[in-house]
Amino acid sequence: MCGIVGYTGPRQASRILVDGLKRLEYRGYDSAGIAVQVDGATGAPPVVIKRTGKIAELRQAVPKDMAGHCGMGHTRWATHGGVTGENAHPHTDASGKVAIVHNGIIENYMALKGMLEKQGVPFRSETDSEVIAHLVALNYEGDLEAALKASLKHLKGTYGIVCVHADEPGRIVGARNGSPLVVGVGDGEMLLASDVTAMLAHTKRVVYLNDGEVVTMLPHEFRISDGDERRVDPRIDHIAWELEAIEKEGFSCYMEKEIFEQPDSIERAISGRMDHENGCAKLGGLNLSKKELHGIERVRVIAAGTSWHAGLVGCQLLESVARIPAAAELASELRYRNPVLEPASLYFAVSQSGETADTLYAMREVRRRGGTVLGICNVVGSTIARESEGGVYVHSGPEIAVASTKAFTSQLAAFYLLALEFARMHDMSHHEGQRFLAALREVPAAVRKTLAVRDHVQALAKKYCRHADFLFLGRGILFPIALEGALKLKEISYIHAEGYASGEIKHGPIALVSPETPSVFLVPGDHLREKTISNMKEIKARGGPVIALADEDDELVASIADDFIGLPKVDPRFQPFTMVVPLQLFAYFCALELGRDVDQPRNLAKSVTVE
Ligand code: G6P
Repeated sequence: MCGIVGYTGPRQASRILVDGLKRLEYRGYDSAGIAVQVDGATGAPPVVIKRTGKIAELRQAVPKDMAGHCGMGHTRWATHGGVTGENAHPHTDASGKVAIVHNGIIENYMALKGMLEKQGVPFRSETDSEVIAHLVALNYEGDLEAALKASLKHLKGTYGIVCVHADEPGRIVGARNGSPLVVGVGDGEMLLASDVTAMLAHTKRVVYLNDGEVVTMLPHEFRISDGDERRVDPRIDHIAWELEAIEKEGFSCYMEKEIFEQPDSIERAISGRMDHENGCAKLGGLNLSKKELHGIERVRVIAAGTSWHAGLVGCQLLESVARIPAAAELASELRYRNPVLEPASLYFAVSQSGETADTLYAMREVRRRGGTVLGICNVVGSTIARESEGGVYVHSGPEIAVASTKAFTSQLAAFYLLALEFARMHDMSHHEGQRFLAALREVPAAVRKTLAVRDHVQALAKKYCRHADFLFLGRGILFPIALEGALKLKEISYIHAEGYASGEIKHGPIALVSPETPSVFLVPGDHLREKTISNMKEIKARGGPVIALADEDDELVASIADDFIGLPKVDPRFQPFTMVVPLQLFAYFCALELGRDVDQPRNLAKSVTVE
């Protein structure tokens, strides 16, 4: 969703804000703006510059020598009101003295707007956010923090808010409820942002705000208080990410870079977590004793989008390898369907960002009912990670492209370790555990080899990218990979694609098959291979083009398919890793061929912090 950054300190604020917004552009990219206080002119309204379009448009509009050392910026992903200059943030009150930026949704803004309009307050935008600026102005009696706190009492909904006032030079006040805000503690300067990537170039010392907290900051100090006016002792965390991790490093876009990073990111996810001697996993963060883990009778996964697909693979593994009943649920469905929490169940909230509203709220609902929820997250310190009772960090490093790739394979890695952990508590022998680990240890190298299909996949993308519809078909543990392949293609190339279980196509989707609708088959190396080959023949018999992915020595599959992508042979249980990589590349090259914006596809946001 939207990105926020604030700065107060000795340096030129506009530059830090625009650079910070550039880093946050993956969170929203329909419009952007900054507000900067005028130096040495207490009472002068902050200067506001807003533009629709990408950050590059805003950068052009901001004078290079723009004065001012305190301000804030925002990059928008529209919810209320179209993409216009007026609807872009920051928003100001009628006098222009108060400027605010906001992430989230103010649910009662219509009522508040009506009330304010009756008092003669003029509105300029169609956003829900503008009410905040007017409320703060009405409540202002010389203390911005007090005015914001008084205003928050009227707001229903979610927010990460940052505001400044013309009469308080150098002061920034922020509040969080449901939308992340992180304080960056610098040397004689302070930052405030919706995520750490905006401040990584300036400081690695951060404080994650909790819901209900308000922060007020000057260049040399900051103070956090909670809703009951109690002062909160800040815990300063250190960000482990390096600045280079958020650079493109020679790749044309972040998605390409992140696809090619996967051998390393998977390695990071598993390293230090494999106990070869005992043939089991070492997952220290679960915070459950062996006895408690042994008592778990079923697993439930809560997630959205690509993370849900990782959960679907994870659940199949938990059942087949560990013999634990497991099911993955869409978070947006679980929350509202009055779920039954069965005893001895363990829930996993899976989320790259750790901020997805659907997943967060579903997880809170489960916890409210007494369920135990662990997290599988990438972003350290994210809300889901902090609200979980334990879990696994997947250590993919920052994922910037909107379409998730490396986080997915790292989530898979976490599930393989979890499946092993549970399996070794039940029926899996020591020897079998060692074999499983040996196969897992081979995965980074197998993915590295798989990446050699790059040029071949690029040629296939050129050949097929003008088709309007695709089917992605897989069985068993590869069914979720078919779903993921279809999702990737939809997300970044805008080509319609459906993921289906191969055995199910004859029950409906086969009606779609024609020479115009290619089918991408994921052919497993196990007992489902032959059945899948029959499904391929059914498609061929009806004139549908077939692209097949299978073991590189599978001559039969190669002879049936119109196009064949041969992959390094791995233990069939581990094929999700090697199968998903060509699908990521296929989506990427189709998007490139069609001239799409790969990293920032239309209408999508990286981290969806509204329901
Ligand atoms: C958004 C992104 C997807 C992502 C999903 C879940 O829809 O565009 O790429 O898979 O959110 O995100 P999470 O951060 O919870 O994994």
